[in-house]
Amino acid sequence: MKTFVAFLLTFALGSADINPRVFPDNFKFGVANAAPQIEGGWDEDGKGETIWDHLAHRHPEKIADGTGPDIASDSYHKYKEDVAMVKAMGLDHYRLSIAWSRILPTGYPDKVNQPGVQYYKNLFKELKAAGVEPMVTLYHWDLPQPLQKELGGWLNESVADLFAEYARICFGLFNDDVKLWITINEPKQVCQSGYGYGELAPAIASSGVDDYVCSRNILLAHAKAYHIYDDEFRETNKGRIAMVIDTIWYEPGSDSPADIEAAERAMQFNYGLYGHPVHIGNWPQVVIDRVAERSRLAGYPKSRLPEFSKREIDYIKGTYDYIALNHYATNMVNASDAPVKDTGYWNDIGILTWRQPQWTGGEGGWFTVVPWGLRSLLVWLKKTYGDIEILITENGYPDKTGVMEDDDRIAYFEGYLSACLDAIYEDGINLTYYTAWTIIDDWEWLGGYTWFMGMHSVNFTDPGRARAPRKSAGWFTDMVKKRCLVK
Ligand code: NOJ
Repeated sequence: MKTFVAFLLTFALGSADINPRVFPDNFKFGVANAAPQIEGGWDEDGKGETIWDHLAHRHPEKIADGTGPDIASDSYHKYKEDVAMVKAMGLDHYRLSIAWSRILPTGYPDKVNQPGVQYYKNLFKELKAAGVEPMVTLYHWDLPQPLQKELGGWLNESVADLFAEYARICFGLFNDDVKLWITINEPKQVCQSGYGYGELAPAIASSGVDDYVCSRNILLAHAKAYHIYDDEFRETNKGRIAMVIDTIWYEPGSDSPADIEAAERAMQFNYGLYGHPVHIGNWPQVVIDRVAERSRLAGYPKSRLPEFSKREIDYIKGTYDYIALNHYATNMVNASDAPVKDTGYWNDIGILTWRQPQWTGGEGGWFTVVPWGLRSLLVWLKKTYGDIEILITENGYPDKTGVMEDDDRIAYFEGYLSACLDAIYEDGINLTYYTAWTIIDDWEWLGGYTWFMGMHSVNFTDPGRARAPRKSAGWFTDMVKKRCLVK
């Protein structure tokens, strides 16, 4: 019935190109953010230093505007205002992350920092009162600095054990408050960027060597946390847990078998590097073969890709309750053979990527506005891994002006939500959550405060960090209320 009304409305309003379908009753809308990007209070109430605090303070030249996450959007003090905005928008869920170093200042499980615990308790209480479901990430890139300095960070397998201990502490502390858990956000950014290309913190470059070691350890960390949840908390918590994997959609640049194969290979390196071990077991075969061959040609004594034992493969396999997906870009792909001496992750894939001239998307190349790419990606996930419930845990539009009449952001949401509707109704994808990045402007890592992604602006020059709604906030609120894109 609702669909029929929306259909009639479409014609009445003459907006025949707007998807008239209605979101299913079980579909949830929310917004996402992460502790280091909005909380601020970087050393307040006992919080320890993270690798991002460290990078921004020691190497401000690496951040676009030389800023750090010290105050960010000041949500550490203004969380009630944030929750009120989430409630006013009628959202179902709020994705946030717990800062490891707020709970365990050094990262080691020796002393739990009570004020840090209290901050999240207060936040969860506020969300509960607002009727909003928390979706909680345990690790959103903010490794406690002592674990980097003393142990070498994610290159040391014992950090996986420390993460598991931290996860156990959080499951215990917040067992009554949180039912939807995420272990790790975007492992590819943590490893391939943080330890491969040396861009994101800890910004250590290794060109296709240490980043795969990091991938292995982070998968073990995820699996350990999953099993702890499964063995010790699932029964009482009655929630769900998964890892968030970010992926680009790779579309073959031509009908040639080589380009079709290159696009599939890119998907396997991009999503499959983490998704395959979790859904099917072990690294994707194409990744194993390709890295081994390129390592051999480049003169390495063995593959740069570390192995999993049979026991580890079985331990990691199946550690998901749903697929959690972050998506920001589509690329066209042609096969290309990168010089073998150049062993970085992107060169291991062996592709040349490009964009269709009509696509819009921001500078920096990390996002494009191609809604059909999301739909193709959802179909690929189902085809490759089976009919698993999918939650979109991030999708959003960055711009560099901070314009308040953000019609481009509205068009973006409309396009991507329309793709979600088609995926649900046309392709039978079991898609249940859409989480927009994001509700308020934030500290965008190396981009500092130069990228604006919020449906509400934050005045970063105002000590009070005043928030104000952009046009998109009204549009999104309205859409959530109608559960439909038609006005
Ligand atoms: C993905 C990351 O998870 C998030 O932290 C980041 O801010 C957004 N992409 C937008 O850049």
